[in-house]
Amino acid sequence: MKILVFGKDGQLGRAFKKLLDAALFFTGDHDIRYVGRAECDLSHSLEIEVALNAFQPDLIINAAAYTAVDKAEQESDLAFAINATAPAVMARYAVNHGATFLHYSTDYVFDGSGVDFYSENQPVNPLGVYGKSKAAGELAIEEAFDHADNFKARYAIFRASWVYGMGSNFIRTILRLAKEREELRVINDQFGVPTDATWLAKMSLTLCIDEQGRLRDFPSGIYHAVPAGETSWHGLAHWATQVAIEVGVAMKASGKAISPIPATEYPLPAPRPMNSRMSTLKLQKALKDLGLVSKFPEWDALVRSYVTDLAKNKLI
Ligand SMILES: NC(=O)c1ccc[n+]([C@@H]2O[C@H](COP(=O)([O-])OP(=O)(O)OC[C@H]3O[C@@H](n4cnc5c(N)ncnc54)[C@H](OP(=O)(O)O)[C@@H]3O)[C@@H](O)[C@H]2O)c1
Repeated sequence: MKILVFGKDGQLGRAFKKLLDAALFFTGDHDIRYVGRAECDLSHSLEIEVALNAFQPDLIINAAAYTAVDKAEQESDLAFAINATAPAVMARYAVNHGATFLHYSTDYVFDGSGVDFYSENQPVNPLGVYGKSKAAGELAIEEAFDHADNFKARYAIFRASWVYGMGSNFIRTILRLAKEREELRVINDQFGVPTDATWLAKMSLTLCIDEQGRLRDFPSGIYHAVPAGETSWHGLAHWATQVAIEVGVAMKASGKAISPIPATEYPLPAPRPMNSRMSTLKLQKALKDLGLVSKFPEWDALVRSYVTDLAKNKLI
């Protein structure tokens, strides 16, 4: 099987590379190509087509995206090119060649009103350009597959939230600031689920590849893919610093020195959803129907192991 991974240098791309290189998932003979910005600029459709046609993948993993949420407000065309047009090109290739396509989206497709967990079939209503571009990408993929007559072609769009891995993210920013400052102020009225990139990559591969290394016949569609539980940004900051202290990292700010504030006191160029909670029942059912483990780990256990690893590798 041939696997093409776009976005090799991002948090999720690096998680895929680590897992696939270590062959932690499946046996079998695989030809895997990892592509970054230097090899293929996703804002140019032609470059994507060339990369796909040259390698002829059976599985396309799109871990790349325009993820600069605030900057997107000023760079709408670029955000849409990378987050909507590029996945549409990949989806069309998958449809025409009977390939499997894994793509990633975000809680920012929702407006975050209400307090319930979002299900996949609730209407999207993104607040900012980034969310709008990701929603347009979802729609373009769905439309491409609506016309699929190749029975082998299938796709999964995994919506994640608050992703962290090898790269810059909220947890690493907070840990750096908590080492430098006596006090921190963190938003406590936006709720969601921190998602470990390694967990997300592993779960994606589990859904689409069997133990013999063959592509599975999973149901195409959008899946909410986050660990169990929920928290606020403040809850996450509090927990990450607590774990760092437990594993021996000296922090200037922790516990009560991390003050909860409302989002209104921390205005940003792009509005964020207040409620990013997403129900994962659909994904759990799909995994269960395939005879796979469908119980998701709690977010705080995953953050504990992430922060512990950061400390071990002297990255805090
Ligand atoms: N991060 C989050 O909190 C979050 C939350 C919800 C959903 N998601 C979704 O999860 C997925 C993975 O996110 P992530 O956190 O891994 O993102 P990330 O760390 O920002 O990585 C994105 C990757 O995309 C690449 N890229 C951007 N523009 C490109 C272009 N024009 N051509 C080629 N490559 C380009 C970047 O390349 P360079 O390394 O060269 O810049 C980077 O390696 C994305 O679909 C994202 O929308 C993320």
